[in-house]
Amino acid sequence: MKLNQFFLLLLSIQAGSAVYDPSSYTERPCGDDLTNLWLDVVAVIAANIASVFSSGTKIGQSPTEQRTTRLGLVTYNSNATTNADLNKYNSLDDIYNDVYDALGSVSDTTTSYLSTGLEAAETLFNTQSDGTPRQHYKRVVIVYASAYQGFGDLDPLPVAERLRTFGINIVTVAYDQGDGELLEEMQKIATPGFNFTNTDDTGNLVGQIQGALLQSNCFCPNGWTQYRDSFSNENSFRYGSCLQPVGIPATWKAAQLGCSHRWNSTYLATEFNPEKHDFILAAVRNQTGFYKPNQPLAYHIGLNYANGNWVWDQPAGLPQVSMPGDAWKNWITSYPKNAAQNSAGQNLQNGFGTAWQNVAMYTGSSNYVCETYSCDTDIYCDASFVKH
Ligand SMILES: *[C@@H]1O[C@H](CO)[C@@H](O)[C@H](O)[C@H]1NC(C)=O
Ligand SMILES: *[C@@H]1O[C@H](CO)[C@@H](O)[C@H](O)[C@H]1NC(C)=O
Ligand SMILES: *[C@@H]1O[C@H](CO)[C@@H](O)[C@H](O)[C@H]1NC(C)=O
Ligand SMILES: *[C@@H]1O[C@H](CO)[C@@H](O)[C@H](O)[C@H]1NC(C)=O
Repeated sequence: MKLNQFFLLLLSIQAGSAVYDPSSYTERPCGDDLTNLWLDVVAVIAANIASVFSSGTKIGQSPTEQRTTRLGLVTYNSNATTNADLNKYNSLDDIYNDVYDALGSVSDTTTSYLSTGLEAAETLFNTQSDGTPRQHYKRVVIVYASAYQGFGDLDPLPVAERLRTFGINIVTVAYDQGDGELLEEMQKIATPGFNFTNTDDTGNLVGQIQGALLQSNCFCPNGWTQYRDSFSNENSFRYGSCLQPVGIPATWKAAQLGCSHRWNSTYLATEFNPEKHDFILAAVRNQTGFYKPNQPLAYHIGLNYANGNWVWDQPAGLPQVSMPGDAWKNWITSYPKNAAQNSAGQNLQNGFGTAWQNVAMYTGSSNYVCETYSCDTDIYCDASFVKH
């Protein structure tokens, strides 16, 4: 395949994205509806590499729809050219019509300094995202590169690190021509996990980039910790739920009520699997003031006994989710005891970790852990709740 045949269809139609079923015994995934993506994206492309956004995603800004994506386009060789600022495109057709002209205008030199392209992207965000009603939209730079050049002032790495420090995700696509060094350098530029190549084994580059955009669009309101594969690695795979340990002792019933008032669709946390349990324990341990010295760790979770079943709390208006017979369970030995009287679930210090114990719902008090849905393509969160 020649360079100029490399043609990327980005954000192609998502025929009926999977809708999360809240009654299922599974963790809520991040929203995956590309038509509702809400991001500010700058594509930084070298000569000869085209990126094209295709139908579905709402491009530009709209007075009535918040979930739109703006796209800027930067080309670079020895210098960068901003072919489209973030306010230029208002439809996918605009992008189609423009992208070829933009690329045609880039003279095909062997010199390409990615640092200049990244700096142009940074300028667009500084001047067109900061201080605007889209300040809280997540920002992504998609970089296509077929060579890695530049040292000293032209080294792209410091620019990339600066962008990432400001919470901007960088997706890289290395146009691999058997140059192992390019892959290695691009991996340093990229947000961990967002380094891709056009010759990936999976052959699904578009899907990978879309996945990176959906993950970028999935985040938590201020003060909430996103549930992800690894507590210690903020770049690990994210789920569509957010957690908040609350260090104010309350009965289980008061805790449930307390959670429901913290945010929209908030409930006491679920622990469908051991990974979630361990993540919540790590979050609790990292919460200042939650742990009282010389007292066993104890915190309410959404587990409760209703109509003859153990079930999990859910957002107001949704039925609680029943625990299937073969589900993972974490009862302390000899629990549950007398479920009818002790119909609430909490985690209690047990060896080095914690495990479930059932307690009374209306008496006794413990700290608790709330959970809510993430901001993502299904749920727009406005500026007052999102740090930027
Ligand atoms: C790139 O920009 C610099 C500084 O603006 C300028 O001196 C140089 O001539 C430009 N190079 C090209 C190839 O346009
Ligand atoms: C991306 O980086 C990881 C290490 O973080 C590496 O294992 C993987 O091979 C890289 N992928 C590509 C396409 O370069
Ligand atoms: C643990 O808590 C500290 C202090 O609040 C915070 O800065 C840090 O991000 C937390 N760690 C994780 C992995 O969330
Ligand atoms: C909940 O959602 C509504 C409408 O989407 C919003 O106005 C409100 O500020 C949100 N947050 C809380 C904490 O209720």
